[in-house]
Amino acid sequence: MATSERREITFGPFERLLGPSVDRRTTPLTNQRKREQRQTRGHCTAMRRLPRMVPVNDLRSYIEALTAAGQLARVDTSVSIEHELADVAAALERTDTGAGYFTAVEGSPWPIFSGAVASHRRAAIALGCDHDEIIDVMGRVLEPENGVAPVRTESAAWLANQITGDDIDVTTLPIPTHSRGDGGAFITGAVTVTKDPIGGRGNLSYNRMLRMGPRTFGFNTNEWRDVGTFWKSRENPDDPFPVALAIGLDPAIMIAAGVKTPVDELLIAGAIRGSGIEVCRGTTVDIDIPAAAEIVIEGHILPANRAPEGPLAEFHGYHGEPWNSPTVEVTCVSWRDDPIYQTIIPGWYEHIYIGNVLPREPLLRRFIRHLDPDADIHIPPYGNGFLAVIQIERDNPGTAKNLAMAAMAAHINIRNVIVVDRDIDMYEASEVQWALTNRVHWDDDIFTVSGSQGHEMDPTADQRGVSSKVGIDATYKRERREYGERVSYAAVNLTDYLR
Ligand SMILES: Cc1cc2nc3c(=O)[nH]c(=O)nc-3n(C[C@H](O)[C@H](O)[C@H](O)COP(=O)(O)O)c2cc1C
Repeated sequence: MATSERREITFGPFERLLGPSVDRRTTPLTNQRKREQRQTRGHCTAMRRLPRMVPVNDLRSYIEALTAAGQLARVDTSVSIEHELADVAAALERTDTGAGYFTAVEGSPWPIFSGAVASHRRAAIALGCDHDEIIDVMGRVLEPENGVAPVRTESAAWLANQITGDDIDVTTLPIPTHSRGDGGAFITGAVTVTKDPIGGRGNLSYNRMLRMGPRTFGFNTNEWRDVGTFWKSRENPDDPFPVALAIGLDPAIMIAAGVKTPVDELLIAGAIRGSGIEVCRGTTVDIDIPAAAEIVIEGHILPANRAPEGPLAEFHGYHGEPWNSPTVEVTCVSWRDDPIYQTIIPGWYEHIYIGNVLPREPLLRRFIRHLDPDADIHIPPYGNGFLAVIQIERDNPGTAKNLAMAAMAAHINIRNVIVVDRDIDMYEASEVQWALTNRVHWDDDIFTVSGSQGHEMDPTADQRGVSSKVGIDATYKRERREYGERVSYAAVNLTDYLR
């Protein structure tokens, strides 16, 4: 940020925590072990339990918890803020290696963190539960009666450093340019905090922001989202509308911000933590902002002052067109001492996890469990929120197709549904692919529902989102032909063997 002197970066207590090792993924269970676990624990999802975790209430304690669980990948090698950081962060997500902690980003005075909630392993740490409890926890915290209201405080770590007015220069903020198809440097990992001008309730959302000048961003939103309805509900919708961007957060807030709900999503974050999230009023806007944020940008959305913004890697895995979006005029930038900048790699795993996986799996599970109380479900991030995998103990030959119909009816985005047996680890793409390859007779085991309604940005759909939904029964049809046991080898930790 624009300060007269450039700060030396120290990690303080993090020197101890951010060890040099890049930890590897946890070892998968053998099928035999999976079966044993299922027998003893009911509907377990065949993933290893994590050791009890460090309590999390901000980004720093989360980094500590990730480190303890072997889920932090510290990158000390120098990387460019243009593309290279995103390339490395995307590879960390694709290989489920760990969240990225980049300590040597060229031109950045601060470390940059990415991939906070980019996998089931990390979602479990963020939620403070085991892998097979994630849907239960999400289902519970999404119930409005379980919401925990935020708590107002007068102090916030980010009050330590502030710049207002003409001194602001956001070109000095370490905002990465992510994908090579992106139209510039975008803030993607900030949580937008706004307030309903009529009811007064707060709201969290994600809105990509293109850096356009020293005090100006482009602000992307579908205008039917809460933030758009807020500014339009005023007597003069074109008046400047106050907004705050909180960067570097407790993952509970990150997860809550991805939920579309008519209540303040801070209630959901409070439900995850079991206590109210501390918020502090902004310096130039009347908005309650998470007090533990690393960096805060305050400003006003100018609904009538529009400019081309985009393209950016979208959730569906393509680059969109530039939008004619409102701009934001920045009024204040604040940061805690030695802050950590946080980013989300757009159009990639974390984007899908926060926006599509965590908020929707409980809904889908409710639908399928209406038919089969033992069925499990996962929305894999590599399917961009259009694919769901259901796991069952197969009984009657037709059940799988009924379950697929239930899942595709449950949410408009769900287009392809694959149903697998219990011996398939539904969290592993290669396992699902194995079932598709070896257990599907393509004439008999699939069905399509043509002309069904999907998301209007679904790349297979027409402009109104009309496409075909597909159900695939990838379970083992014993009645068709008998095979023996599936081949499996005991899982080992390769780092014990490779030097
Ligand atoms: C990483 C990420 C980026 C997103 N970016 C945008 C965006 O630029 N514009 C938009 O309209 N929605 C975007 N979304 C979707 C919504 O902001 C978000 O899901 C939120 O729940 C909006 O809900 P609300 O209208 O109930 O507040 C994004 C979601 C995620 C997870």
